[in-house]
Amino acid sequence: MSQDTTGSPAPAAATSAGHDQAPHVEALENLLHEDRKFAPSQEFAANAVATAADYTEAAADRPAFWARQARELLTWDKDFTDALDWSNPPFAKWFVGGEINAAYNALDRHVENGLGDRVAIYFEGEPGDTRSYTYAQLTEEVKKAANAFEALGVAKGDRVAVYLPMIPEAVITILACARIGAVHSVVFGGFSADALRSRIDDAEAKLVVTADGTYRRGKPSPLKPAVDEALSKEGHTVENVVVVKRNGEAVNWVEGRDLWWDDTVEAASAEHTAVGHDSEHPLFILYTSGTTGKPKGILHTTGGYLTQGAYTHKAVFDLHPETDVYWCTADVGWITGHSYVAYAPLINGATQLMYEGTPDSPHQGRWWELIEKYKVSILYTAPTAIRTFMKWGREIPAKYDLSSIRVLGSVGEPINPEAWMWYREVIGGNGGAKENPAPIVDTWWQTETGAQMIAPLPGVTATKPGSAQVPLPGIAVDVVDDAGASVPNGEGGYLVIREPWPAMLRGIWGDPERFKDTYWSRFEAMYFAGDGAKKDEDGDVWLLGRVDDVMNVSGHRLSTTEIESALVSHPSVAEAAVVGAADETTGQAVVAFVILRGDAVNKGEETVLELRNHVGKEIGPIAKPKQLLIVPELPKTRSGKIVRRLLKDIAEGRESGDASTLADPSTMVQIAESLRK
Ligand code: WT7
Repeated sequence: MSQDTTGSPAPAAATSAGHDQAPHVEALENLLHEDRKFAPSQEFAANAVATAADYTEAAADRPAFWARQARELLTWDKDFTDALDWSNPPFAKWFVGGEINAAYNALDRHVENGLGDRVAIYFEGEPGDTRSYTYAQLTEEVKKAANAFEALGVAKGDRVAVYLPMIPEAVITILACARIGAVHSVVFGGFSADALRSRIDDAEAKLVVTADGTYRRGKPSPLKPAVDEALSKEGHTVENVVVVKRNGEAVNWVEGRDLWWDDTVEAASAEHTAVGHDSEHPLFILYTSGTTGKPKGILHTTGGYLTQGAYTHKAVFDLHPETDVYWCTADVGWITGHSYVAYAPLINGATQLMYEGTPDSPHQGRWWELIEKYKVSILYTAPTAIRTFMKWGREIPAKYDLSSIRVLGSVGEPINPEAWMWYREVIGGNGGAKENPAPIVDTWWQTETGAQMIAPLPGVTATKPGSAQVPLPGIAVDVVDDAGASVPNGEGGYLVIREPWPAMLRGIWGDPERFKDTYWSRFEAMYFAGDGAKKDEDGDVWLLGRVDDVMNVSGHRLSTTEIESALVSHPSVAEAAVVGAADETTGQAVVAFVILRGDAVNKGEETVLELRNHVGKEIGPIAKPKQLLIVPELPKTRSGKIVRRLLKDIAEGRESGDASTLADPSTMVQIAESLRK
């Protein structure tokens, strides 16, 4: 395989992969006829936050619509002059000249408005320990953390790497960074030491905030050792590591570098005045997989990101902050955990639940038990979780009272109509007990878009199983053909965004060229999302999955190229090709085809295990191939490009398709023979 990490082959990859995609799109097409539609109940519609007028207002003047949201939902230290500056595309500026502090908007202002006693976060640890923070308490914690980080020399614009489990300190750290204008870079706790190090290096982080560890399925699970390992090689920029004591396990300690959270943050003053930062001040970097080996540091800035997050959180979830209990199950290590755990719910003054563990610990009813206990009214989760619960059986949620649920959200991957219907009846309908089950909002968006882009508005839109349906007010989504022309209803193509939107990424950290190449060069003057999509007869949008070399495993984004690079970095591997194979539960699963070096000994299962673990070490356990096949050859075109379509056929257990374009048409026979052995 090519180990090109220059970061520019995206358009070519997208085009050729687009052809690869064709059979997949065809197969899905039969499924995309859906007659079921669920109109909002009168009762729901009567109290709905969103109204149809949002669409007309936004259509009449998009920037003015967003300017109104920005002023109504946020408190600015200095008002902005223009809603949008698009004079230098694709580099947008939203709410030009405005100054705002994200943490003040999420915290202090609610306390000033008399909401200090409202619960901001109910925390439930995996072992069952609980804590809650009112808005007043959370504000105090964030002020302390802000003081502590400043005392460690973290200044506005400096980068802070955050490697924490799902505990309140993660939100406190994120908001403390935002408060002082430091740029956080959260690294998912499931990523390896190597992955953490490369992210620390790319962003040149000055501080790392981590924990001794967390709990997984009843057992302590370490985090700090990965930080130690990441920093064991010289040449990094980290000055201090702040460590939250979470599971109490023994940790190694580097004197002068490592500091306990309790000794630094808890000991700091709770007096801290937030100042406004420029609307375009960098808020955070979040790394995500692209079509090349090197993860991209997606950059988000302040005013626009907060505006679209707050608006969508309110309108799409029909948030009534006085009465709702909101629960987004995403980890803060992903964009969903940024926008819809750390920022928007707090900006909107909501009460939310945060849960540390897995859904099956200590039993498969844990989520439903939590919903009953906290009277969760809005649940936001991923299709892969829903399909897992389906597999476990409806008798498990049936044991709990789910009558508090009013709105259900889905995110991360296409939700198949069966899973959608199950979610509606079993969870949203409290097992069939409800006359009007909770509306489901299937929300399409990306790390890059920063906030939801396509979703029905509950109380307004009649929902349809399997389709994310309509662009949100103020969002210009379209489906276009190869030449960039809008496709008519009933046809498929590529998902694009035609106009800038407030929460759009502002770039890739340190690489403006890659930003242009990846997103803005496939089609003239349009953002190319990397997804295939179709408009049905009603004009509703159906998402068909990625058309580039990006896989979606349990709603987590993984790059085929990145895993291939990890495999070829092993001394026994000569070449590797990775595909995402359809998987009933996780949507896609990683399947790797590996050619061993001439001098490497194939020890069968042992070699397979070693290579899988190697990927785990290089990237993280989530990237480990589910299946790893050692083969004598890989199918390649005459120009040397791996034909993944044919490997996908094998991985999905099909007879492999047309191999006539291969440089050596006998390759597929050789592979099939070697696998039979
Ligand atoms: C990719 C973005 C958005 C937060 C979680 C994932 C896929 C996301 C949906 C949906 C169909 C979806 C797309 C997209 N995706 N939501 N509702 N229906 N597909 O963020 O890791 O940046 O991944 O996830 O393929 O491009 P991400």
